[in-house]
Amino acid sequence: MHILVTGGAGYIGSHTCVELLAAGYQVTVIDNLSNSKQAALRRVSEITGREPDFVRADLRDRMTLDALFRDRGFDAVVHFAGRKAVGESVQIPLEYYENNVGGTLALCKAMAKVGIRKLVFSSSATVYGDPASVPIREDFPTCPTNPYGRSKLFIEEILHDLYRSDDTWNIALLRYFNPVGAHRSGRIGEDPNGVPNNLMPFIAQVAVGKRSRLRVFGDDYDTSDGTGVRDYIHVTDLAKGHLKALERLSANPGIVPYNLGTGRGYSVLEMVRAFERASGRSVPFDIVGRRPGDIAICYADPGLASAELDWTADLGIEEMVRDTWRWQSQNPDGYE
Ligand code: NAD
Ligand code: WQD
Repeated sequence: MHILVTGGAGYIGSHTCVELLAAGYQVTVIDNLSNSKQAALRRVSEITGREPDFVRADLRDRMTLDALFRDRGFDAVVHFAGRKAVGESVQIPLEYYENNVGGTLALCKAMAKVGIRKLVFSSSATVYGDPASVPIREDFPTCPTNPYGRSKLFIEEILHDLYRSDDTWNIALLRYFNPVGAHRSGRIGEDPNGVPNNLMPFIAQVAVGKRSRLRVFGDDYDTSDGTGVRDYIHVTDLAKGHLKALERLSANPGIVPYNLGTGRGYSVLEMVRAFERASGRSVPFDIVGRRPGDIAICYADPGLASAELDWTADLGIEEMVRDTWRWQSQNPDGYE
């Protein structure tokens, strides 16, 4: 099986390439390197002993995309490429819609032209917005609260329309909760540009001495210790979920959303303490005001993925913080 991985040089994409290559899939990556480094793919080869083909191009470059699909004989596509910073999406919404929605339209058109209709799409738990209750099931209402989240929901809707127009498409909409961690080798991991937006890379950069203190956004939520609770999931578990989804697409399931989370939530302070234990470093923090748009608590009901994909997360919080620390301490400046 030959898989096209869009955005495969990025954080989740590179970890998924490792699992695909290790499982014997042939892999071609298309990435414009707008938020990643080609070094990640060299390290994927180092880990697996196999090399993904790499095409540096934007997904919206239709000529390149058409030529790729014409020449390479892909069997399915795993689609990660997109922009993902919530705050930035509020500042430059058109860029987000153009890249995320426009890139997906270009991809699906190119797939349709050559009759490839198996697609695994990176959606997000952000499509649920602020849920009325937890754990969150796939049939909960969707109500994203920012342009990034809406771009994911619009893409889900577009893919539903595509399926209604032609029910030979098979599409898995994978709604990730909070991906963290790194490959256990310490060779690939999350390498954010500038100041990290997300909790885990921020904690890691404080522990390694790149930043002085963490700001904890609010301790007055209705949670056990007042700080926000999230369903953190190890990126290797997440990557394996894509292989399970690809297997499932062969059984012609149509279009199905799946939550990929552990089903368990941890607070910000629990993550800080776990990281301190794993790293032996202290992570000083200040409690500051709530971050606009944040919700108190969010975790998945991963039951559907367990029942239909035969997928559950194996790795717990100890592995998440241990592997993040290994990556951060061995690569303090990321791939530079
Ligand atoms: P990432 O930024 O590390 O990876 C995305 C990759 O896509 C990057 O390598 C980037 O260079 C590439 N890219 C972006 N636009 C492109 C375009 N137009 N053409 C070609 N390549 C392009 O992000 P990630 O954390 O690996 O996330 C992967 C996917 O998962 C994204 O779609 C993201 O929205 C989604 N997701 C991420 C999270 C998370 O917290 N990391 C959570 C839920 C969903
Ligand atoms: C986690 C918790 C913060 C940073 C985001 C996107 C979501 C998805 C995953 C793509 C919250 C707190 C954070 C900091 C803090 N991405 N925090 N200090 O907000 O749950 O989800 O990433 O799809 O769409 O919204 O993740 O890691 O930013 O925050 O106290 O410096 O950590 O308030 O409670 P979030 P996060």
